[in-house]
Amino acid sequence: MLLAVETSCDETAAAVVSRDLRVLSNVVASQTDLHEKYGGVVPEVASRAHVTKIVPVIDEALERAGVTFADLSAIAVTTHPGLVGSLLVGVTAAKSLAAVLDLPLVAVDHIQAHVYACRMAAGRDVFPAIGFVVSGGHTNLYDCRSATDLELVGSTMDDAVGEAFDKVAAVLGLPYPGGPSVQKAAERGDPKSVRFPRSLLKDERLDFSFSGLKTAVLYAARGTPGSTKPVPELTDQRIADLAAAFQAAAVDVLAGKCEQALERYGRDTLCVGGGVAANGPLRERLESMCEKNAVTLHLAPLSLCTDNAAMAGIAWELLDAGQVSPLDVDVRPGLVRR
Ligand code: KG4
Ligand code: ZN
Repeated sequence: MLLAVETSCDETAAAVVSRDLRVLSNVVASQTDLHEKYGGVVPEVASRAHVTKIVPVIDEALERAGVTFADLSAIAVTTHPGLVGSLLVGVTAAKSLAAVLDLPLVAVDHIQAHVYACRMAAGRDVFPAIGFVVSGGHTNLYDCRSATDLELVGSTMDDAVGEAFDKVAAVLGLPYPGGPSVQKAAERGDPKSVRFPRSLLKDERLDFSFSGLKTAVLYAARGTPGSTKPVPELTDQRIADLAAAFQAAAVDVLAGKCEQALERYGRDTLCVGGGVAANGPLRERLESMCEKNAVTLHLAPLSLCTDNAAMAGIAWELLDAGQVSPLDVDVRPGLVRR
């Protein structure tokens, strides 16, 4: 068994994963309540909360799995990408355990782990595949030759899609975190009420841009600067309509780019992970697109979409490939392109 630790953003997480990828425990302490009043993750607040939660979360992961330190064969930890202060807390805890217990330390790429959540859930090899990570920080398309050999083939030029969901929620006065509340409001809305832009959908590049869409929602809600055109009142129905129209535009672009990537790289498998992969309409659209194209779709289950440590089960693959990290391994906040 290995103990995996994940603190890249605002969830303090630890999990115990067996050699055959069974998740024996998966503990996630959310900090949503701490960041709610700011409408987004405050890095310094996140790191301080990780400091107080990391030891109890690790204890709980071991307890729920019914194991002790003596049962462990390795310590895995997210070292990149993420918020530097947040990453440092998990990495320091993991290094300390690896040193004291004399166990190998395995550095995990958080984005690779989001794709690997699909492999964990499938219970069998799913690669080669197109990997798609849609989260608060990333909108990345990968050509995955294997679990650990990924090439970044498309990403966002501005906002990540989860960030766009969160900002649109703020504009519409919907509660934090924005993704789930936009989805909920959209259920009562008409997605055709406003036609928002599908940026880059017809472009050859596999890249994304969500800032234009976000601004279009802002102008639809509050009016275009300098325009004298009357703006419809922001009633509950109008909020629901704008949420639905925004979500429809985002889903069109996300599914469309996956389709383009699958065709371009000749892959017949799609693996989707990250917090936005919890979005119901996106899941439905990906299912129908994959069915139409005879593509096998692996959607991370909801418990493995948002940040968690169980998906760091990818560490077993890294261990097999001899990728043990030295105890002075550093955190790397930025995206590692390969
Ligand atoms: O993967 P994640 O937990 O953290 C990052 O690594 O960023 O993703 C969090 C993001 C947030 O932007 C959140 O609003 C979004 O995922 N999200 C959703 C839904 N649930 C979470 N977006 C759309 N629909 C959802 N149901
Ligand atoms: Zn994440």
